[in-house]
Amino acid sequence: MEFIKVTNTVQPYVALIQLNRPKELNALSVALMSELRATLQELDADSNVRVIVITGNEKAFAAGADIKQMAGKSAMDMYQLDQFATWDHIKKIKKPIIAAVSGFALGGGCELAMLCDMIIASETAIFGQPEIKIGVIPGAGGTQRLTKAIGKVKAMEMVLTGKFMPADEAEKHGLINRVVPVELYLSEAVKLAAQIAALSPIAVKLAKEVVLRSFETHLEEGLILERKNFYLAFASEDQKEGVAAFIEKRKPNFKGK
Ligand code: CAA
Repeated sequence: MEFIKVTNTVQPYVALIQLNRPKELNALSVALMSELRATLQELDADSNVRVIVITGNEKAFAAGADIKQMAGKSAMDMYQLDQFATWDHIKKIKKPIIAAVSGFALGGGCELAMLCDMIIASETAIFGQPEIKIGVIPGAGGTQRLTKAIGKVKAMEMVLTGKFMPADEAEKHGLINRVVPVELYLSEAVKLAAQIAALSPIAVKLAKEVVLRSFETHLEEGLILERKNFYLAFASEDQKEGVAAFIEKRKPNFKGK
């Protein structure tokens, strides 16, 4: 594995996955997501693992999908690449997954945390869906899962303005389980994982399946529309401008075209 590290011995029956592209703030490239999917599927099939923790580093859980990889892509390129199909496999993992988040959890990073079953955050964690600032919209569940977690008006503000939400507010609005001091976020997540790993793995899987079912009953349609519109955004000039401006480190000039 090039972009993730896996430790199986962090606690009995608990596996730890660390996203490992620190220079790029763990931007979720297609290759990283493919390694993550393969690893999660392996761990899901491994009877020595009952709970999985996903973390980044102190500065970033993940700063989103890899914007540089998306530069120059057409709507058809995006549709054919269908990079978010990987996420559908991760959604099917039966064992509980806990996100241990510190620093940036933005765009796809926030969406990955929300795809996990629980989130433990450090007091420095920052959540956000800033895709609008580069002329696109969330494409990996953000519009649906964030809205279900924190409610319409708060989600609308975050998705439409790109405004960040700090950890204490995220806890207040039910986006995360709890906030702990930065030196404790990983150990707290592992502690929670160990607590669950000590319980019946069958019951835990059955319980996870049912909680998710109740959560996702009306989600599917929204996700399909979200993905289509995410790809469609690549037909706009504003998307090209937004990505170019990000890479050239300048303010974008959006024209609504
Ligand atoms: N994709 C690719 N590279 C990224 C990245 C991303 N999402 N986020 C950060 N990086 C890179 C930067 O380009 C930079 O690389 P260089 O050193 O080569 O210039 C490096 O990581 C460090 O980043 P910064 O210098 O920008 O660090 P900072 O501390 O000044 O700012 C930040 C941090 C506010 C998170 C800023 O990097 C940022 O705004 N990142 C983009 C966040 C974003 O828009 N995410 C959404 C992406 S789209 C998406 O996720 C779609 C989806 O729904 C799945």
